[in-house]
Amino acid sequence: MCSDHQWMSEAIRLIEADYQRSADTHLIKLDLPCLDGIDVYLKDESTHPTGSLKHRLARSLFLYAICNGWVNRGTPIIESSSGSTAVSEAYFARLLGLPFIAVMPKCTALKKIEQIEFYGGKAHLVERSDQIYAESQRLAEELGGHYMDQFTYAERATDWRGNNNIANAIFNQMQLERYPVPTWVVMSPGTGGTSATIGRFIRYQKHATKLCVVDPLNSVFHDFYRTGDKQLTSTVFSKIEGIGRPRVEPSFIPGVIDEMRTIEDRASVATIYWLETLLGRKAGASTGTNLYGALQLASEMAQRGERGSIVTLLCDGGERYLDTYYDSQWVKDNIGDVQPYFAQLETFQATGRFA
Ligand SMILES: Cc1ncc(COP(=O)(O)O)c(C=O)c1O
Repeated sequence: MCSDHQWMSEAIRLIEADYQRSADTHLIKLDLPCLDGIDVYLKDESTHPTGSLKHRLARSLFLYAICNGWVNRGTPIIESSSGSTAVSEAYFARLLGLPFIAVMPKCTALKKIEQIEFYGGKAHLVERSDQIYAESQRLAEELGGHYMDQFTYAERATDWRGNNNIANAIFNQMQLERYPVPTWVVMSPGTGGTSATIGRFIRYQKHATKLCVVDPLNSVFHDFYRTGDKQLTSTVFSKIEGIGRPRVEPSFIPGVIDEMRTIEDRASVATIYWLETLLGRKAGASTGTNLYGALQLASEMAQRGERGSIVTLLCDGGERYLDTYYDSQWVKDNIGDVQPYFAQLETFQATGRFA
């Protein structure tokens, strides 16, 4: 590919200028009087211009691809995604005047497809979640485009050592809290890129914080973490949009993780309903997975008489999922009865313990 330096410089300026105009996302402290000496925080990634934590990743992936000479004037961008990354990449593709196609499973939330189209991108739907990779590669070859491949490049496109990454932002925002260095950070993996960034940052900064990664049902990450078997695949797919994968993604870095847990889908969905009673805000189901894991850890700390803080992520808002996680019939048909978990969370709220 013949590089067009002028275009590249202008593209980088446009992305950096966009960053310069944006503010950091809020770190919300949950009001949980039931926990004596344990503070729980949510890093609210829903307030990025494209509504999710994937705004950060899309910015990093574009910068990485441009600086590698993979993307230039007019290069069509193809991406495999469960939706959120594609929405954010469509935003940056439009900023740079590049065509964008997202390859997504057909079960992707309609709202995300509408948002991709709003930013001028196209949605190319495939039957199943495990078909997105090969179809993206094929399309990129057919169109002479670039397959962004977040599942491979997420962990390396982000500068994990320092400035501008999510871990750096969290630790800065915690500075004036009573327990400024979290005992735990909790995150669920889609690409695994965010947990890789957080885990590496913790070690590089020599913090005592531990990283707990929470996996939904029907994901191979937790089994891979236990067994080390990279060839694991699943033919049943995660129902928690954005997280849980049918194959071990290259961006998932097990060595940075201190503990993994599997969280029931019913618990994840019950947790977003419970969170709405606490915050007056709707969140996506991966936030439920994160928060349920964080609350389990908080309750265990309380039982051991420990004090400290726990930080997890509000990955995206719930408005994208009004016809799925916030539709009681859909939840009944696809997730099951969430009431026992909701009751468990109410008990937790009253006592600080899971019954
Ligand atoms: C809503 C949502 N939550 C969580 C994640 C997981 O983040 P990561 O890909 O960095 O592991 C994703 C990734 O697509 C997502 O879309």
